[in-house]
Amino acid sequence: MGNESYAIECRGITKRFGTVLANDNINLAVRKGEILALLGENGAGKTTLMNMLSGIYHPDAGQIFIDGNQVSINSPNDASDLGIGMIHQHFKLVDVYTAAENIILGTSGKLKNKKLLKEEITELSDRYGFNIDPDKRIYDMSVSEKQTVEIMKVLYRGANILILDEPTAVLTPQETERLFVILRRMKEQGNAIIIITHKLNEVMAISDRVTILRKGRSVETVNTSETNEKHLTELMVGCAVDLLIECPEMDNKEKVLELYHVSVINPDGSRALNDVSFDIRSGEVLGIVGVAGSGQKELCETIAGLIKPNEGTMLYRKEDIVGKTPAEIIKMGIFMSFVPEDRLGMGLVSGMGMTDNMLLKKYNDNKGIFVDRKPAKELADRLVSKLGIMTPDTDTPVRMLSGGNVQKVLIGREIESNPNVLITAYPVRGLDINSSYMVYDLINFQKMKGAAIVYVGEDLDVMRLLSDRILVLCAGEVVGIVDPKKVTKEDIGLMMAGKKLAEGVGAYEQ
Ligand SMILES: Nc1ncnc2c1ncn2[C@@H]1O[C@H](COP(=O)(O)OP(=O)(O)O)[C@@H](O)[C@H]1O
Ligand SMILES: [Mg+2]
Repeated sequence: MGNESYAIECRGITKRFGTVLANDNINLAVRKGEILALLGENGAGKTTLMNMLSGIYHPDAGQIFIDGNQVSINSPNDASDLGIGMIHQHFKLVDVYTAAENIILGTSGKLKNKKLLKEEITELSDRYGFNIDPDKRIYDMSVSEKQTVEIMKVLYRGANILILDEPTAVLTPQETERLFVILRRMKEQGNAIIIITHKLNEVMAISDRVTILRKGRSVETVNTSETNEKHLTELMVGCAVDLLIECPEMDNKEKVLELYHVSVINPDGSRALNDVSFDIRSGEVLGIVGVAGSGQKELCETIAGLIKPNEGTMLYRKEDIVGKTPAEIIKMGIFMSFVPEDRLGMGLVSGMGMTDNMLLKKYNDNKGIFVDRKPAKELADRLVSKLGIMTPDTDTPVRMLSGGNVQKVLIGREIESNPNVLITAYPVRGLDINSSYMVYDLINFQKMKGAAIVYVGEDLDVMRLLSDRILVLCAGEVVGIVDPKKVTKEDIGLMMAGKKLAEGVGAYEQ
């Protein structure tokens, strides 16, 4: 018999994929009415463990207990019958269906009349504080709404053990706060919750206890009230860490890329970008911040040649680049990587290994059909060691890597290919702390080699430390360009809401 007080308990769970020992004798337990944070670096084995609780994989060894009784979970249906519901990193909703249709999908709810179903969904919404129109179709929903539907779906199936795999990686801070309100309600109602997140402030804010995984092992479980962010980082990494972001001062700041009065007009006539002018200089990091959807994506895509601006000029070393194809832009050494909220669609071929993915972008001047794989292999090997990418070798298909490691492959490919201009948006989205700091180091390394870098980011503390200048976007317009050393975080927050600072405040001096 297991311990009666645990809603779910794992003992000695082990799982191997070929030569990779993804889970090595893991112990973990959650009580009813408790939120447990599961913490660990990218590739530590978190998703694998949760996939065994939700019936996607079966452990090679170990036991799982629910309310003290040993259970065998052989399929997602078994998990669902046992009251376990998992919200995956990648949602599994049917796009053309409504919220209600997705919620009942695969249950006997199909047979109920519409009115009864609506009542049930309303009851669920009232109980937990959801705010979803049951008739809205998934393709019309924001990422946060989709996530809410996923949560409703598992609750509708009677889940009382909820597993959320990096739910906040795709949310804005406000949406995260709303999710936390819902999680606290679930906890009050006696549910057991496991949440995976890399953001330590979130761990501190939402969890009761934290279990830390390191390289497939459960190294420690601590009470949240008795720990702090530094301690958690050290448990995760396994040694003392110093979390330091540098902003090396470079001279010889030549204007490499100049934008004048650039506008991008949406099909509906609204402006994604309106009269945007700024320059980017060699040896600097220009940080770009704004609330989600302020034009960051359009700006990156315009520079990369994926969108042709309706108005304005773009000069690269004084040469007009408006109208050039993306391939021509890449040839000039202007590289762009945009990590989307869902982290998919980043331009990797999942069936290929790292080396072949390196070859996909023209980073060597091969002509003809005989491709020289050597430079690509060297690049892949360099990334593995510099970013600590966990992969058996550089020919293993990237779909076998954990989400964070896939991302490291992608951004590493862009950063390490010696760009003249590097446009990187949200490169650390979903990366663990240590990997994030490795990315900041790589960016600074390129900056010191003279690259002009645009860094579109979210974390204002990081942005203020890393950037030489910060450009604030609001509703497609430049609110201002400021010296991060001369403004407060609050100043930047106000600018993000469209408020200009007083004349001269925070101005950048050459
Ligand atoms: N289906 C799979 N096939 C092979 N290796 C896998 C598979 N799923 C995960 N792995 C490997 O197992 C390890 C743990 O991955 P994962 O559980 O996704 O980590 P985390 O969620 O902590 O980032 C990684 O080294 C990953 O490459
Ligand atoms: Mg994972």
